[in-house]
Amino acid sequence: MEKIVSLCKRRGFIFPSSEIYGGLASAWDYGPLGAELKRNVKSAWWSTVVHQRDDMVGLDASILMHPRTWEASGHVSSFSDPFVQCPSCQRHFRLDKVWDEIESSPWVVSLREAMSVDADSSYLLHWARTEGKKLAPNLSLVKEPEVTLSWIADSLSAFGQHKVNFKDFLSRLAARQSGIAQTPCPQCGAILPEEGVAANLMLKTFLGPVEQTAEKVYLRPETAQGIFVNFKSVLDATHRRLPFGIAQIGKAFRNEVTTKNFIFRMREFEQMEIEYFTTKQDAEDCHRRWIEDRLNWYLNMGVRKENLRVRPHAKDELAHYAAACTDIEYNFPFGWSELEGIANRTDYDLKQHAKFSGQDLQYQDLTTGAKFYPYVIEPSGGVDRATLAFLVDAYHEEIVKDRTRVVLRFSKELAPVKAAVLPLLKKNDGIVTLAKRIKNDLQKEFACVYDDTAAIGKLYRRQDEVGTFYCVTVDVESLEDGQVTVRDRDTMAQERISVDRLKEYLREKLAL
Ligand code: GAP
Repeated sequence: MEKIVSLCKRRGFIFPSSEIYGGLASAWDYGPLGAELKRNVKSAWWSTVVHQRDDMVGLDASILMHPRTWEASGHVSSFSDPFVQCPSCQRHFRLDKVWDEIESSPWVVSLREAMSVDADSSYLLHWARTEGKKLAPNLSLVKEPEVTLSWIADSLSAFGQHKVNFKDFLSRLAARQSGIAQTPCPQCGAILPEEGVAANLMLKTFLGPVEQTAEKVYLRPETAQGIFVNFKSVLDATHRRLPFGIAQIGKAFRNEVTTKNFIFRMREFEQMEIEYFTTKQDAEDCHRRWIEDRLNWYLNMGVRKENLRVRPHAKDELAHYAAACTDIEYNFPFGWSELEGIANRTDYDLKQHAKFSGQDLQYQDLTTGAKFYPYVIEPSGGVDRATLAFLVDAYHEEIVKDRTRVVLRFSKELAPVKAAVLPLLKKNDGIVTLAKRIKNDLQKEFACVYDDTAAIGKLYRRQDEVGTFYCVTVDVESLEDGQVTVRDRDTMAQERISVDRLKEYLREKLAL
């Protein structure tokens, strides 16, 4: 992950937001190549789910919506993640994720390592006085090592005999009383409160110049509601019949308790959502079809099969509106995590909006005349999460001529640059003129760059590192035989191609 973050910054994919002021936690900006990559992700999605289907239309609703929308949807009353705050270091942690954070925290990683060498009390005492003091100064074991060790003597010997799991053991190291298990702070080791506090995740703002009298509105936490409130208008305007879907890409905002892992969890992010309207009878089948379609999309975008899996939600994980949900998960460097959720939202949202707005939002079957609320299948993915998965999956390192070659093996749809035109000699007027002419011609069809800022070997490496599909090199012979060298990113094979045929060659190869 560190290599990805560093590459993204160095090569202009993603920068920390407002970095000159020290950055803003969880906010990131897409640089020149990142902006291209993200646009490609969105247009590949839009092309697949809107343009290449007969049963889908698009929408672009506003971020700010009538506040009643969020009462109807249930977000005002129940869109919250209970959190706990450490009384010592003041950090917040999501209650349902706190043990994940503990297990990956620096002090636990260090303790686990120490205990794999020796799990006896003198070794723990040594750890408490050295690493523990630096990494978890408020852990009971660190503050009062002798007392804590006397309390945990039994657990320690049971741990040595594999009778106690690591989590139970840690919760005893944190305790201030014998025999009591407590939750340690992932940051400093202090005891965390057992009860969580619910915090609504919606961000608020004010409409109007005077805050005291202005209307309070929310920045939408999901794009989905923009689709539900427009259901009737889309139906009237397009005369669609069931089943059909509405797709939308747009910003969403959530006051997340914890944000980490680069662009995986942010407070401002972008969603690609579909609300697919069908009958109650078809909903289960339709749900299955969408799970398959969406999984295939990631595979078609070049993601390796072994890095994707589907995970149906247990009943107690389901959101308040869902009858079923299956996540498509990606094997990120920090573990398997949600890339996209595909939910069966039943007729919950349309019924709620009908109730709160007083409008009739039912669908009428033209053959039978029957009126009913359609069921909704919702494939909901994150643009940023997909972009991160594509970056991680594309990242390869290989040894070529004793040097490490870093190459981003993006699919042809996603590669931010399709061709780089490189003059072999930047001071040769003939070469430069021809190279610029080629670039000007290619850029009408393909995303291209021109680069003459280093020697050719270095230029190739630079283009590999950002995933450019082809490098087109113009050399002295090009001026005589009218041919250029085209180098393939993945195989590094080079071919001489006539300048007149170059566009057609790239068109065929890229098949865009
Ligand atoms: N309308 C349903 C909905 O919003 P969700 O599981 O909360 O469901 C859908 O979000 C997708 O949006 C997730 O699978 C993820 O890709 C993306 N997402 C959600 N919260 C995010 C965050 N804080 N940062 C980045 N992406 C996020």
